[in-house]
Amino acid sequence: MRETDAGFDCDDGGCAARLPLRDGVLVVRDSMTGDNRIAADFYDSELWPKLKVWDSLFWLVNGGQKRAREVVLSRLPRARNLRLLDVAIGDGAYTGWLPEDWSVVGVDISAAQLAACRRRNAGRDLALLLGEAEDLPLCDRAFDAVLSNGGFNHFDDPEKALSEMVRVAKPGAPIVIADERPDFLNIGHRLGLPALDRWIASRVMSMGDDFAGLVERHREIDIAAIGRRVLKNCEYQVIWRGLGYLMVGEAP
Ligand SMILES: C[S@@+](CC[C@H](N)C(=O)[O-])C[C@H]1O[C@@H](n2cnc3c(N)ncnc32)[C@H](O)[C@@H]1O
Repeated sequence: MRETDAGFDCDDGGCAARLPLRDGVLVVRDSMTGDNRIAADFYDSELWPKLKVWDSLFWLVNGGQKRAREVVLSRLPRARNLRLLDVAIGDGAYTGWLPEDWSVVGVDISAAQLAACRRRNAGRDLALLLGEAEDLPLCDRAFDAVLSNGGFNHFDDPEKALSEMVRVAKPGAPIVIADERPDFLNIGHRLGLPALDRWIASRVMSMGDDFAGLVERHREIDIAAIGRRVLKNCEYQVIWRGLGYLMVGEAP
């Protein structure tokens, strides 16, 4: 790749790839595929700030955002000059809490989230890429650790995404995944009224019909089974008062 004023051009003979830089974000993929398109539309929309109210409540119930996130971030190695990949970095709410000497690459499908991440973390060693977790535009064995918090359940293909994280991690590097439990919204399912949960997600929590439908479709995903198939020494534990999970393993 050769850097130009407008972005990056591939100078590998015959390859005409041209990746534009937009607001400090390298655009690898502009339109997303499958359920990722629904998720990108949601995170780029006015609905996400409304859901953030519930997000804040979630952190409050779990002892405050910093404390609750520390359960996950503490599983990253405390090495100097670490190269970290953050898949689904979002607005980088916690990026500033990571050691200053780490260099971070963040991938996300939402241009709005990445723009917010760039603003929030101005001055940090941070490269941001607009693209999908399932098709990481990154070299093999490049990272000392990989983190993915808060998006895994809703990836179009979580297993493919995890395999990609393994591919770009150095052998033995920790891969740290956390999210709400996919079936955390289950009042309706318990009452035998599954449509109630979709209604709560769509209307009460402001996810909108499309994203609420995605959440419903992904509620049966067996995260621990995916981890066991892809990661070495995979540990899975329930966290955040039973509402979330933490899965940690190594790249084989
Ligand atoms: C709830 S936010 C979490 C952001 C951040 N990691 C955090 O913990 O605050 C979920 C993020 O996942 C991103 N996302 C969803 N599906 C994705 C995919 N297939 N590839 C990359 N990012 C994805 C969304 O755009 C959104 O920014």
